[in-house]
Amino acid sequence: MTKAVKKAVLPVAGLGTRVLPGAKTTPKNLLNVVDRPILSYIVEEARAAGIEHFVFIVGRGQGAIEDYFDANPEIEQALEAKGKTDILAEMRREVGEPGQMSFIRQMAPLGLGHAVWCARHVIGDEPFAVMLPDMLMAAQRPALAQAVEAYEKTGGNIVVVEPAPEGEAHKYGIVALEKGDGRLNRMTGMVEKPAPGTEPSNLFISGRYILQPEIFEILETQERGAGGEIQLTDGMAALMKRQDFHALEYEGITYDCGDKIGLLRANVAFALARPELADAARAAIKSLL
Ligand code: G1P
Repeated sequence: MTKAVKKAVLPVAGLGTRVLPGAKTTPKNLLNVVDRPILSYIVEEARAAGIEHFVFIVGRGQGAIEDYFDANPEIEQALEAKGKTDILAEMRREVGEPGQMSFIRQMAPLGLGHAVWCARHVIGDEPFAVMLPDMLMAAQRPALAQAVEAYEKTGGNIVVVEPAPEGEAHKYGIVALEKGDGRLNRMTGMVEKPAPGTEPSNLFISGRYILQPEIFEILETQERGAGGEIQLTDGMAALMKRQDFHALEYEGITYDCGDKIGLLRANVAFALARPELADAARAAIKSLL
């Protein structure tokens, strides 16, 4: 029996350089997709996978993230007075239960491995999820739930992967696998941002992980890797010498919302997927093409 995954780490401290200047005063993961911030979809996905505690790793100037998941009596009272019960219910759904969310300052932008390590005291000695909030995953069965299901079969550690766009594998963490015909395969290696032409496969690490707590001991002394940053991929590669890792090719579509066009695509796709908006969205898009 595997130990249940109840906590998720959401590293949100990145500067959002690809979506500046918009991300200057609004943390990039609070930018909207249709009418909710990206982070709201990520938290919804986590809840659907059984996550009960959310650990946000934040940077300076990102207090708005805490405020977003907190109650706002002023707005709520105004909506109540106007009888706007639908939107009021939606607002209240976004609010975390008291004690369910932790916010930890990363203090220095030393890389994803360092961000995850910052969560060690809150996670303690149990398996946990990591979700990269730039990567919005649209799937019938939410992506993290697919990862948890895989974890329940294999135990150990799970990394969600997908094929990288042609010629772009060097921008990501790339995995090497034992050949199998299914979507869940044992990993044999991984490398962060391999030099073009040296990629062990075209499958990139796309932003959902289930990890064992032993990763923290490794990250504690992890040296800087690609880009001069402390890389989670390097920490996982070291842990792979002691524990099993499986890669899951999840079923769904990923939108990289840390990128202008990715964010645009997500807005279009999510509007078209909303029954009450689909017709108007289609007409608006058509009129522009
Ligand atoms: C990070 C990870 C990388 C992963 C990528 C997905 O890289 O280090 O392994 O493939 O996210 O977006 P970054 O985008 O921070 O360079």
